[in-house]
Amino acid sequence: MPWMFKRKKSTCENNASPLRSNLPEWAALETHARATKDIHIRDLFAHNKERFDEFSLRCGPLLMDYSKQRVNDETIDKLCAYARACDLEGWREKMFDGEVINSTENRAVLHTALRAGANAKIALDDENVVPKIQSILQRMHDFSDTLRAEGRFTHIVNIGIGGSDLGAAMAYEALKPFVDPNITVHFVSNMDSSHLSEVLNKVEAEKTLFIVVSKSFTTLDTMTNANSAREWLCRELSTDCPGEHFVAVSQNVTLAKEFGIKENNIFPLWSWVGGRFSLWSTVGLALCIALGFEQFKSMLDGAKEMDEHFRSTKLENNLPVIMGLVGMWNRNFLGHETLAVIPYNQNLHRFPAYMQQLDMESNGKSVDRNEQRIPYATGPIIFGAPGTNAQHSFFQHIHQGTTIVPCEFIACLKDHSPMGDHHIKLLANVFAQSEALMEGKESDNPNKSFDGNRPSTTILLDELTPYTLGMLIALYEHKIFVQGILWNINSFDQCGVELGKVLADQIIPALSEGKDAPAMDGSTKKLIEIAKKIS
Ligand code: F6P
Repeated sequence: MPWMFKRKKSTCENNASPLRSNLPEWAALETHARATKDIHIRDLFAHNKERFDEFSLRCGPLLMDYSKQRVNDETIDKLCAYARACDLEGWREKMFDGEVINSTENRAVLHTALRAGANAKIALDDENVVPKIQSILQRMHDFSDTLRAEGRFTHIVNIGIGGSDLGAAMAYEALKPFVDPNITVHFVSNMDSSHLSEVLNKVEAEKTLFIVVSKSFTTLDTMTNANSAREWLCRELSTDCPGEHFVAVSQNVTLAKEFGIKENNIFPLWSWVGGRFSLWSTVGLALCIALGFEQFKSMLDGAKEMDEHFRSTKLENNLPVIMGLVGMWNRNFLGHETLAVIPYNQNLHRFPAYMQQLDMESNGKSVDRNEQRIPYATGPIIFGAPGTNAQHSFFQHIHQGTTIVPCEFIACLKDHSPMGDHHIKLLANVFAQSEALMEGKESDNPNKSFDGNRPSTTILLDELTPYTLGMLIALYEHKIFVQGILWNINSFDQCGVELGKVLADQIIPALSEGKDAPAMDGSTKKLIEIAKKIS
Protein backbone atom coordinates (compact mmCIF):
# COMPACT_ATOMS: atom_id res chain seq x y z
CA MET A 1 0.00 0.00 0.00
CA PRO A 2 1.46 3.39 -0.94
CA TRP A 3 2.56 5.66 1.84
CA MET A 4 -0.33 7.92 2.86
CA PHE A 5 -0.78 11.11 4.78
CA LYS A 6 -3.23 11.62 7.53
CA ARG A 7 -4.84 15.01 7.67
CA LYS A 8 -3.58 16.93 10.66
CA LYS A 9 -5.75 19.28 12.55
CA SER A 10 -4.47 22.04 14.73
CA THR A 11 -4.07 20.82 18.24
CA CYS A 12 -2.49 23.89 19.71
CA GLU A 13 -5.65 25.45 21.08
CA ASN A 14 -4.68 24.15 24.43
CA ASN A 15 -7.60 25.75 26.25
CA ALA A 16 -7.60 23.38 29.17
CA SER A 17 -3.96 23.95 30.07
CA PRO A 18 -3.41 25.85 33.29
CA LEU A 19 -0.98 28.73 33.60
CA ARG A 20 2.49 27.25 33.58
CA SER A 21 3.28 28.83 36.93
CA ASN A 22 0.33 26.92 38.46
CA LEU A 23 1.85 23.55 37.59
CA PRO A 24 3.10 21.58 40.62
CA GLU A 25 6.41 21.07 38.77
CA TRP A 26 6.85 24.86 38.66
CA ALA A 27 6.25 25.07 42.41
CA ALA A 28 8.80 22.27 42.93
CA LEU A 29 11.37 24.33 41.04
CA GLU A 30 10.60 27.37 43.18
CA THR A 31 11.10 25.35 46.35
CA HIS A 32 14.33 23.92 44.96
CA ALA A 33 15.59 27.41 44.02
CA ARG A 34 14.98 28.59 47.61
CA ALA A 35 16.70 25.53 49.05
CA THR A 36 19.78 25.98 46.86
CA LYS A 37 20.06 29.75 46.91
CA ASP A 38 23.35 29.75 48.81
CA ILE A 39 25.08 27.23 46.59
CA HIS A 40 28.27 28.45 44.92
CA ILE A 41 29.17 26.79 41.60
CA ARG A 42 32.75 26.55 42.88
CA ASP A 43 31.52 24.21 45.65
CA LEU A 44 29.61 22.06 43.18
CA PHE A 45 32.94 21.40 41.45
CA ALA A 46 34.73 20.82 44.75
CA HIS A 47 32.23 18.11 45.70
CA ASN A 48 32.03 16.39 42.34
CA LYS A 49 35.16 15.57 40.39
CA GLU A 50 33.03 14.23 37.54
CA ARG A 51 31.02 17.41 37.20
CA PHE A 52 32.30 18.33 33.74
CA ASP A 53 31.45 14.87 32.38
CA GLU A 54 28.04 14.90 33.99
CA PHE A 55 27.13 18.40 32.89
CA SER A 56 28.38 18.48 29.33
CA LEU A 57 26.81 17.10 26.17
CA ARG A 58 28.08 16.40 22.69
CA CYS A 59 26.43 16.17 19.30
CA GLY A 60 29.05 15.34 16.64
CA PRO A 61 31.55 18.19 16.35
CA LEU A 62 29.67 20.38 18.86
CA LEU A 63 30.22 20.19 22.60
CA MET A 64 28.18 22.08 25.20
CA ASP A 65 29.66 22.49 28.67
CA TYR A 66 27.02 23.69 31.12
CA SER A 67 28.90 22.59 34.24
CA LYS A 68 29.51 26.25 35.11
CA GLN A 69 25.76 26.86 35.42
CA ARG A 70 24.22 27.00 38.92
CA VAL A 71 22.54 23.63 38.59
CA ASN A 72 22.91 20.24 40.25
CA ASP A 73 21.42 16.81 39.48
CA GLU A 74 18.22 17.66 41.25
CA THR A 75 17.81 20.88 39.28
CA ILE A 76 18.09 19.02 35.98
CA ASP A 77 15.67 16.31 37.18
CA LYS A 78 13.13 18.90 38.23
CA LEU A 79 13.53 20.91 35.04
CA CYS A 80 13.03 17.80 32.92
CA ALA A 81 9.97 16.87 34.98
CA TYR A 82 8.61 20.36 34.30
CA ALA A 83 9.35 19.97 30.56
CA ARG A 84 7.42 16.68 30.54
CA ALA A 85 4.52 18.33 32.36
CA CYS A 86 4.46 20.89 29.52
CA ASP A 87 4.39 17.97 27.04
CA LEU A 88 7.54 19.25 25.39
CA GLU A 89 8.00 15.93 23.60
CA GLY A 90 4.48 16.11 22.17
CA TRP A 91 4.97 19.69 20.97
CA ARG A 92 8.29 18.74 19.42
CA GLU A 93 6.51 16.09 17.35
CA LYS A 94 3.80 18.54 16.35
CA MET A 95 6.41 20.92 15.01
CA PHE A 96 8.35 18.30 13.04
CA ASP A 97 5.08 16.80 11.78
CA GLY A 98 3.81 20.07 10.32
CA GLU A 99 0.91 20.69 12.69
CA VAL A 100 -0.40 24.22 12.86
CA ILE A 101 1.52 25.30 15.96
CA ASN A 102 1.77 28.96 14.94
CA SER A 103 -1.78 29.47 16.15
CA THR A 104 -2.11 33.23 15.74
CA GLU A 105 -1.06 33.06 12.09
CA ASN A 106 -2.72 29.66 11.56
CA ARG A 107 0.46 28.15 10.09
CA ALA A 108 2.70 25.16 10.48
CA VAL A 109 6.32 25.79 11.48
CA LEU A 110 8.46 23.77 9.15
CA HIS A 111 11.94 25.23 8.82
CA THR A 112 13.16 21.72 9.72
CA ALA A 113 11.57 20.39 6.50
CA LEU A 114 13.92 22.61 4.48
CA ARG A 115 16.89 20.55 5.63
CA ALA A 116 15.22 17.19 6.13
CA GLY A 117 16.60 15.76 2.87
CA ALA A 118 15.03 14.32 -0.26
CA ASN A 119 13.87 11.08 1.36
CA ALA A 120 11.83 12.69 4.11
CA LYS A 121 8.04 12.72 4.01
CA ILE A 122 6.35 15.65 5.66
CA ALA A 123 2.68 16.22 5.13
CA LEU A 124 1.04 19.57 4.91
CA ASP A 125 -2.57 19.87 3.78
CA ASP A 126 -2.50 16.24 2.66
CA GLU A 127 0.54 16.77 0.47
CA ASN A 128 4.17 15.80 0.98
CA VAL A 129 6.06 19.15 0.97
CA VAL A 130 9.47 17.58 0.43
CA PRO A 131 9.41 17.23 -3.40
CA LYS A 132 8.51 20.92 -3.74
CA ILE A 133 11.31 21.90 -1.35
CA GLN A 134 13.75 19.77 -3.32
CA SER A 135 12.70 21.29 -6.62
CA ILE A 136 13.30 24.81 -5.28
CA LEU A 137 16.65 23.71 -3.89
CA GLN A 138 17.46 22.38 -7.36
CA ARG A 139 16.58 25.79 -8.83
CA MET A 140 18.93 27.43 -6.32
CA HIS A 141 21.56 24.87 -7.26
CA ASP A 142 21.24 25.53 -11.01
CA PHE A 143 21.05 29.29 -10.59
CA SER A 144 24.10 29.50 -8.35
CA ASP A 145 26.12 27.12 -10.55
CA THR A 146 25.31 29.18 -13.65
CA LEU A 147 26.16 32.49 -12.02
CA ARG A 148 29.42 31.18 -10.63
CA ALA A 149 30.40 29.63 -13.95
CA GLU A 150 29.55 32.72 -16.00
CA GLY A 151 31.36 35.09 -13.67
CA ARG A 152 29.16 37.88 -14.97
CA PHE A 153 28.20 39.21 -11.55
CA THR A 154 31.06 39.95 -9.20
CA HIS A 155 28.89 41.83 -6.69
CA ILE A 156 25.60 40.77 -5.16
CA VAL A 157 23.52 43.25 -3.20
CA ASN A 158 21.09 41.52 -0.86
CA ILE A 159 18.28 43.93 0.02
CA GLY A 160 16.21 42.77 2.98
CA ILE A 161 15.74 43.33 6.69
CA GLY A 162 15.24 41.29 9.86
CA GLY A 163 14.90 37.63 8.97
CA SER A 164 15.44 38.50 5.31
CA ASP A 165 18.87 39.88 6.15
CA LEU A 166 20.36 38.92 9.49
CA GLY A 167 20.77 35.16 9.01
CA ALA A 168 22.35 35.30 5.58
CA ALA A 169 24.51 38.30 6.55
CA MET A 170 25.70 36.50 9.69
CA ALA A 171 26.43 33.25 7.82
CA TYR A 172 28.24 35.09 5.00
CA GLU A 173 30.60 36.66 7.53
CA ALA A 174 30.95 33.40 9.46
CA LEU A 175 31.83 31.44 6.35
CA LYS A 176 34.10 34.00 4.63
CA PRO A 177 36.91 31.43 4.26
CA PHE A 178 34.54 29.33 2.09
CA VAL A 179 33.28 32.19 -0.11
CA ASP A 180 34.24 32.38 -3.79
CA PRO A 181 36.91 35.13 -3.90
CA ASN A 182 35.43 36.47 -7.15
CA ILE A 183 32.06 37.27 -5.54
CA THR A 184 31.37 39.89 -2.91
CA VAL A 185 27.99 40.04 -1.22
CA HIS A 186 26.79 43.31 0.30
CA PHE A 187 23.83 43.28 2.68
CA VAL A 188 21.70 46.41 2.66
CA SER A 189 19.00 46.59 5.30
CA ASN A 190 18.74 50.03 6.86
CA MET A 191 16.23 52.51 5.49
CA ASP A 192 18.86 55.17 6.18
CA SER A 193 20.02 55.95 2.63
CA SER A 194 23.66 56.00 3.70
CA HIS A 195 23.55 52.20 3.85
CA LEU A 196 22.52 51.76 0.23
CA SER A 197 24.56 54.65 -1.13
CA GLU A 198 27.71 53.38 0.56
CA VAL A 199 27.26 50.04 -1.23
CA LEU A 200 26.32 51.60 -4.59
CA ASN A 201 29.52 53.63 -4.44
CA LYS A 202 31.49 50.39 -4.33
CA VAL A 203 29.84 48.46 -7.16
CA GLU A 204 29.64 48.65 -10.93
CA ALA A 205 26.09 48.33 -12.28
CA GLU A 206 27.03 46.02 -15.16
CA LYS A 207 28.53 43.46 -12.77
CA THR A 208 25.97 43.71 -9.98
CA LEU A 209 23.05 41.47 -9.13
CA PHE A 210 20.42 42.76 -6.70
CA ILE A 211 18.44 40.21 -4.71
CA VAL A 212 15.35 41.70 -3.08
CA VAL A 213 14.46 39.43 -0.18
CA SER A 214 11.12 40.08 1.43
CA LYS A 215 8.59 37.48 2.42
CA SER A 216 5.79 40.04 2.20
CA PHE A 217 7.33 42.26 -0.50
CA THR A 218 5.73 45.18 1.36
CA THR A 219 8.25 45.92 4.12
CA LEU A 220 8.83 49.69 3.97
CA ASP A 221 12.58 49.53 4.66
CA THR A 222 13.22 46.90 1.97
CA MET A 223 10.93 48.34 -0.68
CA THR A 224 12.37 51.84 -0.19
CA ASN A 225 15.88 50.44 -0.75
CA ALA A 226 14.76 48.21 -3.63
CA ASN A 227 13.09 51.12 -5.44
CA SER A 228 16.16 53.32 -5.06
CA ALA A 229 18.45 50.49 -6.19
CA ARG A 230 16.30 49.89 -9.29
CA GLU A 231 16.34 53.64 -10.13
CA TRP A 232 20.12 53.69 -9.75
CA LEU A 233 20.61 50.61 -11.91
CA CYS A 234 18.30 51.84 -14.67
CA ARG A 235 20.07 55.19 -14.68
CA GLU A 236 23.53 53.63 -14.77
CA LEU A 237 22.62 51.20 -17.57
CA SER A 238 20.36 53.64 -19.43
CA THR A 239 17.44 51.22 -19.39
CA ASP A 240 13.95 51.19 -17.98
CA CYS A 241 13.95 47.53 -17.03
CA PRO A 242 16.13 45.90 -14.36
CA GLY A 243 16.21 42.67 -16.45
CA GLU A 244 18.68 40.02 -15.32
CA HIS A 245 20.08 42.32 -12.65
CA PHE A 246 17.18 41.87 -10.23
CA VAL A 247 16.07 38.74 -8.45
CA ALA A 248 13.26 38.46 -5.90
CA VAL A 249 12.87 36.06 -3.01
CA SER A 250 9.31 36.34 -1.80
CA GLN A 251 6.08 34.66 -0.94
CA ASN A 252 4.33 37.50 -2.74
CA VAL A 253 5.08 36.63 -6.36
CA THR A 254 2.44 39.06 -7.66
CA LEU A 255 4.10 42.10 -6.07
CA ALA A 256 7.56 40.92 -7.15
CA LYS A 257 6.31 40.78 -10.77
CA GLU A 258 4.69 44.21 -10.46
CA PHE A 259 8.03 45.53 -9.28
CA GLY A 260 9.43 44.47 -12.66
CA ILE A 261 11.23 41.25 -11.81
CA LYS A 262 11.15 38.54 -14.46
CA GLU A 263 9.23 35.40 -13.52
CA ASN A 264 12.35 33.25 -13.96
CA ASN A 265 14.14 35.41 -11.44
CA ILE A 266 11.52 35.05 -8.71
CA PHE A 267 12.30 32.46 -6.04
CA PRO A 268 9.29 31.55 -3.91
CA LEU A 269 9.25 31.54 -0.14
CA TRP A 270 7.09 29.27 1.96
CA SER A 271 4.29 30.61 4.12
CA TRP A 272 5.21 28.07 6.81
CA VAL A 273 8.71 29.42 7.36
CA GLY A 274 8.99 32.42 9.65
CA GLY A 275 11.40 35.16 8.53
CA ARG A 276 13.87 34.60 11.36
CA PHE A 277 13.93 30.84 10.68
CA SER A 278 14.27 31.20 6.91
CA LEU A 279 18.02 31.13 6.26
CA TRP A 280 17.65 27.56 4.98
CA SER A 281 15.23 28.57 2.23
CA THR A 282 15.58 30.82 -0.81
CA VAL A 283 16.39 33.58 1.70
CA GLY A 284 19.86 32.01 1.66
CA LEU A 285 20.19 32.52 -2.11
CA ALA A 286 23.00 35.12 -1.94
CA LEU A 287 24.83 32.88 0.51
CA CYS A 288 24.32 29.89 -1.76
CA ILE A 289 25.79 31.78 -4.73
CA ALA A 290 28.76 32.99 -2.69
CA LEU A 291 29.50 29.61 -1.12
CA GLY A 292 28.44 27.32 -3.95
CA PHE A 293 25.57 24.89 -3.56
CA GLU A 294 27.63 22.07 -2.00
CA GLN A 295 28.70 24.21 0.93
CA PHE A 296 25.19 25.63 1.32
CA LYS A 297 23.88 22.07 1.40
CA SER A 298 26.50 21.17 3.98
CA MET A 299 25.03 23.89 6.23
CA LEU A 300 21.59 22.28 5.81
CA ASP A 301 23.09 18.88 6.63
CA GLY A 302 24.65 20.20 9.84
CA ALA A 303 21.27 21.59 10.88
CA LYS A 304 19.70 18.24 10.03
CA GLU A 305 22.07 16.43 12.37
CA MET A 306 20.99 18.75 15.17
CA ASP A 307 17.31 18.25 14.21
CA GLU A 308 17.70 14.50 14.50
CA HIS A 309 19.48 14.82 17.83
CA PHE A 310 16.75 17.14 19.11
CA ARG A 311 13.94 14.94 17.88
CA SER A 312 15.23 11.60 19.12
CA THR A 313 17.34 12.20 22.22
CA LYS A 314 16.05 11.80 25.75
CA LEU A 315 15.41 15.19 27.35
CA GLU A 316 18.21 14.78 29.92
CA ASN A 317 20.82 14.30 27.14
CA ASN A 318 19.33 16.65 24.61
CA LEU A 319 21.39 19.77 23.87
CA PRO A 320 18.65 22.21 22.83
CA VAL A 321 16.39 20.96 25.62
CA ILE A 322 19.02 21.35 28.34
CA MET A 323 20.07 24.72 26.95
CA GLY A 324 16.44 25.88 26.98
CA LEU A 325 15.79 24.52 30.46
CA VAL A 326 18.93 26.05 31.94
CA GLY A 327 17.96 29.36 30.34
CA MET A 328 14.55 29.09 31.94
CA TRP A 329 16.08 28.22 35.32
CA ASN A 330 18.22 31.36 35.09
CA ARG A 331 15.31 33.52 33.97
CA ASN A 332 12.44 32.33 36.16
CA PHE A 333 14.06 30.84 39.25
CA LEU A 334 17.35 32.72 39.63
CA GLY A 335 15.83 35.97 38.30
CA HIS A 336 18.43 36.77 35.62
CA GLU A 337 16.94 39.11 33.05
CA THR A 338 19.64 39.08 30.41
CA LEU A 339 21.79 36.71 28.41
CA ALA A 340 25.09 37.61 26.77
CA VAL A 341 26.08 35.64 23.67
CA ILE A 342 29.83 35.97 23.15
CA PRO A 343 31.47 34.20 20.21
CA TYR A 344 35.24 34.04 20.50
CA ASN A 345 35.58 34.10 16.76
CA GLN A 346 35.72 37.23 14.64
CA ASN A 347 33.89 35.51 11.76
CA LEU A 348 30.92 35.09 14.11
CA HIS A 349 30.81 38.80 14.86
CA ARG A 350 27.23 39.12 13.54
CA PHE A 351 26.01 36.09 15.52
CA PRO A 352 24.80 38.07 18.57
CA ALA A 353 22.75 40.42 16.36
CA TYR A 354 21.21 37.46 14.55
CA MET A 355 20.49 35.76 17.86
CA GLN A 356 18.82 38.93 19.14
CA GLN A 357 16.13 38.70 16.47
CA LEU A 358 15.84 34.93 16.64
CA ASP A 359 15.30 34.92 20.39
CA MET A 360 13.74 38.28 21.21
CA GLU A 361 11.28 38.39 18.30
CA SER A 362 10.27 34.81 19.14
CA ASN A 363 10.02 34.86 22.91
CA GLY A 364 9.50 38.53 23.79
CA LYS A 365 5.85 37.82 24.57
CA SER A 366 3.55 38.48 27.51
CA VAL A 367 0.43 36.53 26.55
CA ASP A 368 0.28 32.74 26.59
CA ARG A 369 -1.26 30.37 24.06
CA ASN A 370 -4.57 30.70 25.89
CA GLU A 371 -4.42 34.49 25.51
CA GLN A 372 -3.92 34.98 29.21
CA ARG A 373 -1.50 37.64 30.50
CA ILE A 374 1.55 35.85 31.79
CA PRO A 375 2.56 36.52 35.41
CA TYR A 376 6.06 35.08 34.95
CA ALA A 377 9.09 36.24 32.97
CA THR A 378 9.58 35.10 29.37
CA GLY A 379 12.50 35.66 26.95
CA PRO A 380 15.59 37.37 28.34
CA ILE A 381 17.27 40.44 26.88
CA ILE A 382 19.92 39.13 24.51
CA PHE A 383 23.03 41.09 23.73
CA GLY A 384 26.59 40.32 22.85
CA ALA A 385 29.71 41.07 20.90
CA PRO A 386 32.70 39.01 19.85
CA GLY A 387 35.37 38.18 22.37
CA THR A 388 38.02 39.35 22.99
CA ASN A 389 36.61 42.79 22.08
CA ALA A 390 33.76 42.43 24.56
CA GLN A 391 36.27 41.90 27.39
CA HIS A 392 37.39 45.47 26.87
CA SER A 393 33.92 46.95 26.68
CA PHE A 394 31.12 45.49 28.84
CA PHE A 395 32.88 42.68 30.72
CA GLN A 396 33.61 44.91 33.73
CA HIS A 397 29.86 44.91 34.35
CA ILE A 398 29.60 41.16 33.80
CA HIS A 399 32.33 40.51 36.39
CA GLN A 400 31.50 43.06 39.05
CA GLY A 401 28.19 44.75 38.18
CA THR A 402 25.15 44.40 40.39
CA THR A 403 23.25 42.52 37.67
CA ILE A 404 24.23 38.93 37.10
CA VAL A 405 24.47 38.31 33.36
CA PRO A 406 24.54 34.63 32.34
CA CYS A 407 26.87 34.13 29.37
CA GLU A 408 27.01 31.75 26.45
CA PHE A 409 30.52 31.52 25.09
CA ILE A 410 31.14 30.03 21.65
CA ALA A 411 34.63 29.03 20.53
CA CYS A 412 36.18 26.99 17.73
CA LEU A 413 39.08 24.65 18.37
CA LYS A 414 40.61 24.96 14.93
CA ASP A 415 41.52 28.29 13.41
CA HIS A 416 40.97 29.19 9.75
CA SER A 417 43.64 31.87 9.52
CA PRO A 418 46.48 30.55 11.67
CA MET A 419 48.94 33.25 12.65
CA GLY A 420 51.56 32.82 15.34
CA ASP A 421 50.00 32.12 18.74
CA HIS A 422 46.79 34.14 18.21
CA HIS A 423 44.52 31.14 18.48
CA ILE A 424 46.07 29.75 21.67
CA LYS A 425 45.71 33.16 23.29
CA LEU A 426 42.12 33.47 22.07
CA LEU A 427 41.15 30.10 23.55
CA ALA A 428 43.00 30.89 26.77
CA ASN A 429 40.90 34.03 27.07
CA VAL A 430 37.53 32.38 26.58
CA PHE A 431 38.37 29.66 29.09
CA ALA A 432 39.72 32.25 31.54
CA GLN A 433 36.56 34.35 31.36
CA SER A 434 34.22 31.52 32.28
CA GLU A 435 36.59 30.45 35.05
CA ALA A 436 36.82 33.98 36.46
CA LEU A 437 33.05 34.43 36.34
CA MET A 438 32.48 31.18 38.18
CA GLU A 439 35.39 31.12 40.66
CA GLY A 440 35.58 34.78 41.59
CA LYS A 441 38.42 36.02 43.81
CA GLU A 442 38.59 37.18 47.39
CA SER A 443 40.54 40.28 48.26
CA ASP A 444 40.89 42.61 51.22
CA ASN A 445 40.38 45.41 48.76
CA PRO A 446 36.65 45.44 47.90
CA ASN A 447 37.46 47.02 44.52
CA LYS A 448 39.46 43.96 43.63
CA SER A 449 37.19 41.26 44.95
CA PHE A 450 34.99 39.16 42.68
CA ASP A 451 31.99 37.25 44.05
CA GLY A 452 32.08 34.69 41.25
CA ASN A 453 29.10 32.30 41.05
CA ARG A 454 28.20 33.89 37.72
CA PRO A 455 26.85 31.23 35.38
CA SER A 456 28.00 30.50 31.87
CA THR A 457 27.80 27.81 29.21
CA THR A 458 30.62 27.16 26.76
CA ILE A 459 29.94 25.78 23.29
CA LEU A 460 32.94 24.37 21.46
CA LEU A 461 32.93 23.61 17.76
CA ASP A 462 35.74 21.53 16.32
CA GLU A 463 36.03 24.23 13.66
CA LEU A 464 33.75 26.75 11.99
CA THR A 465 32.50 25.21 8.75
CA PRO A 466 29.16 25.36 6.90
CA TYR A 467 28.28 22.07 8.62
CA THR A 468 29.04 23.16 12.19
CA LEU A 469 27.46 26.58 11.63
CA GLY A 470 24.28 24.78 10.53
CA MET A 471 24.40 22.74 13.73
CA LEU A 472 24.98 25.80 15.89
CA ILE A 473 22.09 27.76 14.38
CA ALA A 474 19.73 24.78 14.66
CA LEU A 475 20.78 24.36 18.30
CA TYR A 476 19.66 27.90 19.04
CA GLU A 477 16.48 27.61 16.94
CA HIS A 478 15.43 24.57 18.94
CA LYS A 479 16.44 26.10 22.26
CA ILE A 480 14.10 28.99 21.47
CA PHE A 481 11.31 26.58 20.49
CA VAL A 482 11.83 24.66 23.75
CA GLN A 483 11.56 27.84 25.80
CA GLY A 484 8.40 28.84 23.93
CA ILE A 485 6.81 25.58 25.05
CA LEU A 486 8.11 25.96 28.61
CA TRP A 487 6.51 29.42 28.78
CA ASN A 488 3.43 28.34 26.78
CA ILE A 489 3.86 31.14 24.26
CA ASN A 490 3.71 31.17 20.47
CA SER A 491 7.33 31.76 19.44
CA PHE A 492 6.40 32.13 15.77
CA ASP A 493 4.46 35.37 15.48
CA GLN A 494 5.65 38.95 15.95
CA CYS A 495 2.54 41.10 16.51
CA GLY A 496 4.62 43.50 18.62
CA VAL A 497 6.43 44.98 15.63
CA GLU A 498 3.24 46.12 13.89
CA LEU A 499 2.16 49.17 15.88
CA GLY A 500 5.32 51.17 15.15
CA LYS A 501 4.98 50.40 11.43
CA VAL A 502 1.36 51.62 11.37
CA LEU A 503 2.24 54.86 13.16
CA ALA A 504 5.22 55.50 10.85
CA ASP A 505 2.86 55.20 7.87
CA GLN A 506 0.69 57.88 9.43
CA ILE A 507 3.60 60.20 10.13
CA ILE A 508 5.18 59.99 6.64
CA PRO A 509 2.50 62.19 4.95
CA ALA A 510 2.81 64.76 7.73
CA LEU A 511 6.55 65.00 7.06
CA SER A 512 6.60 64.71 3.29
CA GLU A 513 3.41 66.36 2.12
CA GLY A 514 3.03 68.94 4.86
CA LYS A 515 -0.26 67.37 5.92
CA ASP A 516 -1.47 67.91 9.45
CA ALA A 517 0.03 65.47 11.87
CA PRO A 518 -2.53 62.90 12.97
CA ALA A 519 -3.98 63.23 16.46
CA MET A 520 -1.11 62.18 18.68
CA ASP A 521 0.74 62.89 21.88
CA GLY A 522 2.31 66.30 22.53
CA SER A 523 5.88 65.06 22.26
CA THR A 524 5.55 63.32 18.88
CA LYS A 525 3.58 66.25 17.45
CA LYS A 526 6.33 68.70 18.46
CA LEU A 527 9.09 66.44 17.08
CA ILE A 528 7.25 66.36 13.73
CA GLU A 529 6.87 70.14 13.70
CA ILE A 530 10.58 70.62 14.40
CA ALA A 531 11.55 68.14 11.67
CA LYS A 532 9.24 69.87 9.16
CA LYS A 533 10.99 73.21 9.73
CA ILE A 534 14.40 71.73 8.92
CA SER A 535 13.59 69.46 5.97
O1 F6P B 1 9.37 43.72 11.34
C1 F6P B 1 9.60 42.40 11.63
C2 F6P B 1 9.56 41.52 10.43
O2 F6P B 1 8.26 41.22 10.08
C3 F6P B 1 10.39 40.27 10.67
O3 F6P B 1 9.72 39.31 11.37
C4 F6P B 1 10.80 39.90 9.30
O4 F6P B 1 11.88 39.03 9.32
C5 F6P B 1 11.14 41.25 8.74
O5 F6P B 1 10.18 42.12 9.30
C6 F6P B 1 11.13 41.35 7.24
O6 F6P B 1 9.91 41.00 6.67
P1 F6P B 1 9.79 40.70 5.11
O7 F6P B 1 10.64 39.53 4.81
O8 F6P B 1 8.35 40.45 4.86
O9 F6P B 1 10.28 41.92 4.39
